[in-house]
Amino acid sequence: MADPKKLFIKTYGCQMNVYDSERMAEALGGSGYVETRTPEDADMILLNTCHIREKAAEKVYSELGRYKGLKAANPDLKIGVAGCVAQAEGDEIMRRQPLVDLVVGPQAYHRLPEMEARARSGHKALDTDFPAEDKFEHLKARPKAARGPTAFLTVQEGCDKFCAFCVVPYTRGAEVSRPVNRILGEARDLVERGVREITLLGQNVNAYHGAGPDGETSLAGLIWALNDIDGLERIRFTTSHPNDMSDDLIAAHGTCEKLMPYLHLPVQSGSDRILKRMNRAHTRDSYLALIDRLRAARPDILISGDFIVGFPEESDEDFADTLDLIERVGYGQAFSFKYSPRPGTPAAERPQVAPDVADARLQELQALITRQQRARQDAMVGQTVGVLFEKPGRLPGQMVGKSDHLHAVHVDDCAARPGDLCAVRIVSSGPNSLAGILA
Ligand code: 5AD
Ligand code: SF4
Repeated sequence: MADPKKLFIKTYGCQMNVYDSERMAEALGGSGYVETRTPEDADMILLNTCHIREKAAEKVYSELGRYKGLKAANPDLKIGVAGCVAQAEGDEIMRRQPLVDLVVGPQAYHRLPEMEARARSGHKALDTDFPAEDKFEHLKARPKAARGPTAFLTVQEGCDKFCAFCVVPYTRGAEVSRPVNRILGEARDLVERGVREITLLGQNVNAYHGAGPDGETSLAGLIWALNDIDGLERIRFTTSHPNDMSDDLIAAHGTCEKLMPYLHLPVQSGSDRILKRMNRAHTRDSYLALIDRLRAARPDILISGDFIVGFPEESDEDFADTLDLIERVGYGQAFSFKYSPRPGTPAAERPQVAPDVADARLQELQALITRQQRARQDAMVGQTVGVLFEKPGRLPGQMVGKSDHLHAVHVDDCAARPGDLCAVRIVSSGPNSLAGILA
């Protein structure tokens, strides 16, 4: 038998890209590829790209430039670009970087094997369609290899919200939900292979409305169906829009034992004036009221968020409103970004905030978030929490895993094995993780 060809995939951006990369590697497995960790010995390099902020696309072009020498040394090397930069820039990528053999948008991954064959026969291959068929249904099934204890599972893709700053509705297309039975099948398969925790993914995951046995099913309905799978211990989901936090989903946070007490709920800004310009379709008060309802359902729920500073026309007063909202919510985790104008989005046309002003705001906001994160983490000391162990730590005998609230936890001299879910008493809090002992 011929030696397998080697595939190197580099993944940028969100967890949905991590999931897509896994599935692409599996699909190309059918064309005789095995994954390698280094680009140097690869027969095919695939960059799974992100277009959400400017720097992300620039990184892709500079990475491609670095492969020039590899292609000179190995003329059979094929280079592909997948993901949202592929969708947004299409054949511009091939023009700008002639090294590229293949460009595939996120909705066309099931066509990769054909495209690979085309590239092997010396032609360029480009596909940035939004085909009617479901790419996941047509992607090869996951092979039965053992898995670590945690996995991502994409249940919904695309977004119809059109926030004024965001490229996702253009690069990922309209909202589409996968049917319940396919998700349950994939989840059972993951559990058989060792997975104990599944994070359901979607750009707008809580807008999920997949076809189920009794008609259209909400995300809460899907979570309850997953709750019945023996051996699955934990369920998470991300990312949610405040306007799609339905009553049944809020209630599930209080009643569904496997649903973890953590919610990533981006608000982007605390100023009503800016929220309106962002086309977010919610206000600061409606967001704060929602947080109150979630905490009434699940008092210890840890809230995570995303913030954009320096959105066009953001004033000092608007920014002060954002800081005030952060103070009121008390985030356990948050991601913050300086506004980056994306071509084709409405906000890119508006008057921009001076970069030094945006930088200063970002620093101030991040300092506040860091203090809050640390305070939430420190407050875990003395509590007993569930920890799903994932792998050995750096020290001999040490094991590391994640708590119910998604804090990193390490335990020294630990008898637990990867995949064990144990009660752990937290004894101290460090800069990036908690230390505990088995309870
Ligand atoms: N500029 C800066 N941040 C952005 N995000 C999305 N688009 C932009 C942009 N143009 C941030 C939002 C979103 C997260 C995934 O990325 O906060 O929630
Ligand atoms: Fe982008 Fe999220 Fe807004 Fe959709 S809801 S447009 S993915 S920021």
